[in-house]
Amino acid sequence: MIIAKSKKDLEKMRVVGELIAEVRETLRGMIEPGITSLELNRVAEKMMRDAGAIPTFVGYAPGGMSPYPFAICASVNEEVVHGFSTDKPLQEGDIFSMDMAATLDGFVGDTATTVPVGKIDDDVADLVRVTAESLDLAIEQCYPGKRVGDIGWAVQQHAEKHGYGVVRDYTGHGIGRNMHEAPQIPNYGRPGTREKIRAGFVFALEPMLTLGSEETETLSDGWTVVTKDRKYAAHSEHTVAITKDGPEILTLTKEQKRLLKNARGETAAA
Ligand code: MF3
Ligand code: CO
Ligand code: CO
Repeated sequence: MIIAKSKKDLEKMRVVGELIAEVRETLRGMIEPGITSLELNRVAEKMMRDAGAIPTFVGYAPGGMSPYPFAICASVNEEVVHGFSTDKPLQEGDIFSMDMAATLDGFVGDTATTVPVGKIDDDVADLVRVTAESLDLAIEQCYPGKRVGDIGWAVQQHAEKHGYGVVRDYTGHGIGRNMHEAPQIPNYGRPGTREKIRAGFVFALEPMLTLGSEETETLSDGWTVVTKDRKYAAHSEHTVAITKDGPEILTLTKEQKRLLKNARGETAAA
């Protein structure tokens, strides 16, 4: 069952969404050759706890998996998702995918982005850009009356147009009091299929694209997901509320919301 959120629920999801977006942008600003994912993880966990939030990933253990040990998922290069933080410095030319979630006042916000470390190869930069674009296209499908298959199609056609793999083994998801709620939201599909989208639903949309094959495997740590062919992967995620007027991205910072309002020609809040 897909749980529709009340006005009050949405208010809380806005607060946690903005918090996790502030964490994401703070970390983005720190990423440069030489920094370690452990350092980034420490900063993220502190920001969450200082705001009275809980890092949702810590101890997360679905279906008999070992508890996930970190506040952020830190996935480098061929790592797709769920990587572990380490004390190995990031290097020029790497791409760093970071995924993070916080729980505040009973509700979860979930966001991810892939960040270049220093100067990266053009083909990798294209992968990162197209992944972010496919998230935007997914969000654009989030109108009442549309269907979950429309979201998958939007991502798939954009990715495949550029020759990228679309990861099948992991999907987006409904989100609310739990990080993972119904429905599953694949990044591939056919228009007009699957669940109908309604106002009040909140979705975590998260395309994962690869430079080669979309096939993945999990490393012996039990969590880190890598591409089978070890080619690079990128990931972008936002938590998005569906309103009667369309998508509202919850995982934007105050500043990003202000810029968006200005771009739309609305009067910015004082
Ligand atoms: N946030 C991930 C997702 O986007 C899930 C991470 S689970 C963890 O759905 F245990 F690895 F943290
Ligand atoms: Co996530
Ligand atoms: Co998610």
